[in-house]
Amino acid sequence: MNKLIRVKKIILALSGKLPARRSLTTLDDDVFIVSYPKSGNTWTRFLIGNLVYGESGKVDFKNIERLVPDIYQNSDKQLLKVRSPRYLKSHEYFDPRYNRVIFIVRDPRDILVSYYYFCLKVGSIPSSTSIEEFSVKFIDGRINLFGSWAQNISSWVHAKKEGLLLLKYEDMVADAESSVWAISEFLGLKCSQEHVSKAVRMSSFSRMKQLEAQQSDNWKPLKGTRKDIPFMRSGSSGGWKELLSEEVIDRMEKKWGPEMRFMGYE
Ligand code: PPS
Repeated sequence: MNKLIRVKKIILALSGKLPARRSLTTLDDDVFIVSYPKSGNTWTRFLIGNLVYGESGKVDFKNIERLVPDIYQNSDKQLLKVRSPRYLKSHEYFDPRYNRVIFIVRDPRDILVSYYYFCLKVGSIPSSTSIEEFSVKFIDGRINLFGSWAQNISSWVHAKKEGLLLLKYEDMVADAESSVWAISEFLGLKCSQEHVSKAVRMSSFSRMKQLEAQQSDNWKPLKGTRKDIPFMRSGSSGGWKELLSEEVIDRMEKKWGPEMRFMGYE
């Protein structure tokens, strides 16, 4: 690890500001919004934020970290101050301490494309990296600490038998309202049709894209990142068909075929 990063981490740890990550203190009534990265987690956070806190104002990139916080952006100490029940964003593989989980699954071929552009945006890969080069690391599960896509999703869908609501990004794109009704029921909220429709409207791709244009420097994950590559990039499914080579698709399907079929991705 780079010496400067190590020193920064020690300072953050000493000041209690190190992101909570897997050392998070969990509470019984926590609700976790879990997904492999780039599966629609931020959208789900906005939907939940608008469902739960919509009455008291509009959810945006300036207040999302306070309303529906990310365990990778906030310390355990900060998160313990959040009003209960807490709605928390996570990408972790199975954690038996997570009682209530909303788990979002997305076609890994679309995730690969989304992740590639995101890494270019935040500068975590050199700008000369090709999508083919990126795909090798992605399929090997060497892109983050959450395992590969197949390991991560399998760990949840096979291990967690109760307290898990499974949502598919593709279903959300096709019919966001039905997914919001499922969330509302899972959380035991008493929502009206108007309330649900408003949460969907306030979390639409176009509204969030507009907010990103105005507020991206107010949201820690995007602060100082490349403006020519948006976070709210395509917001659709199936874009991989134009962007991935046969070879990349074959390699992924050979490695993750059973898990992809299990999730309905032929
Ligand atoms: S992260 O950084 O891992 O939390 O990313 P995550 O939010 O999980 O995923 C980012 C992708 O979700 C898309 N997105 C949406 N799609 C449809 N509607 C709405 N409202 C929405 N909000 C976010 C976002 O555009 C990223 O996908 P791509 O394919 O890159 O567009």
